[in-house]
Amino acid sequence: MTALLDVIGLSGGYEPVQIFKDVTLSVERGACVGFFGPNGHGKTTLMKTLSGIIDPWAGRIVFEGEDLAAEGERKTRRSRNLNYDVLVRRRMDPKRVARAGLIHVAQGSTLFPDMTVAEILSIAPAPALAGGRESDEGSVLQLFPRLKERMHSKSRFLSGGERQMLSMACGLLAAPKLLILDEPTLGLSPKLRLELAGAVHTIRESGVPIILVDQDVEFLRDLVGTLNVFDHGSISRRLSQSDIPDHETLMAELFGRRVQ
Ligand SMILES: Nc1ncnc2c1ncn2[C@@H]1O[C@H](COP(=O)(O)OP(=O)(O)O)[C@@H](O)[C@H]1O
Ligand SMILES: [Mg+2]
Repeated sequence: MTALLDVIGLSGGYEPVQIFKDVTLSVERGACVGFFGPNGHGKTTLMKTLSGIIDPWAGRIVFEGEDLAAEGERKTRRSRNLNYDVLVRRRMDPKRVARAGLIHVAQGSTLFPDMTVAEILSIAPAPALAGGRESDEGSVLQLFPRLKERMHSKSRFLSGGERQMLSMACGLLAAPKLLILDEPTLGLSPKLRLELAGAVHTIRESGVPIILVDQDVEFLRDLVGTLNVFDHGSISRRLSQSDIPDHETLMAELFGRRVQ
């Protein structure tokens, strides 16, 4: 049986600047794969490419045997001239990717600021699961009880941690076959970090495969089977769980020892 996700020779970026190159990666069914690396080296750009938000330049993204990066029919308007449209053929269609079950919870807040928590949950694209919509919403709210108390607050009044919880709740409602979490604990207070980390553990225990990007090696080490160290736009090291050192050792290996 093939892997759940096979990424082969993937390159991409923001034209004309290439951000990552020749990334090859496999995620097995039931696995949790981590990404760790310095800021600005292309992790988020790679995740956006996996979910079709931006088009890959080269390579293949095979999810459950289907090549999501095959040249498609979808066209997007790219015009620098008001007098005519330039239509560019997109290789990937993010809706098709989401429908296939590859769900990306983006880095930072990407919610509608003037909608309430209840409204945002109600428009989250959720396939009809066995339990029905209400029961699915009930179970994600069990995972994030804090959201229950904020149901009628507009998302712009939520704290960073609450927004992250709401984004993850929307992602879970979509019944992911593979969940991409891009820095879910970024910028949170220690208390909220713990809460969020606990939720990621629970999601993991429920068997959802995850690609987890984070800056906290200890958090990653508890969860992932493989850790990809990502710098300068490519995977420079692949560590299996038992080989992942503690945060300080890994940082020292990557950037050299600090002068005492
Ligand atoms: N929308 C964008 N347009 C152009 N360049 C971008 C855009 N978003 C990010 N970049 C650049 O791409 C590089 C990689 O950024 P990013 O993928 O966010 O890295 P990471 O997630 O590892 O911190 C950075 O140099 C950043 O400035
Ligand atoms: Mg990032």
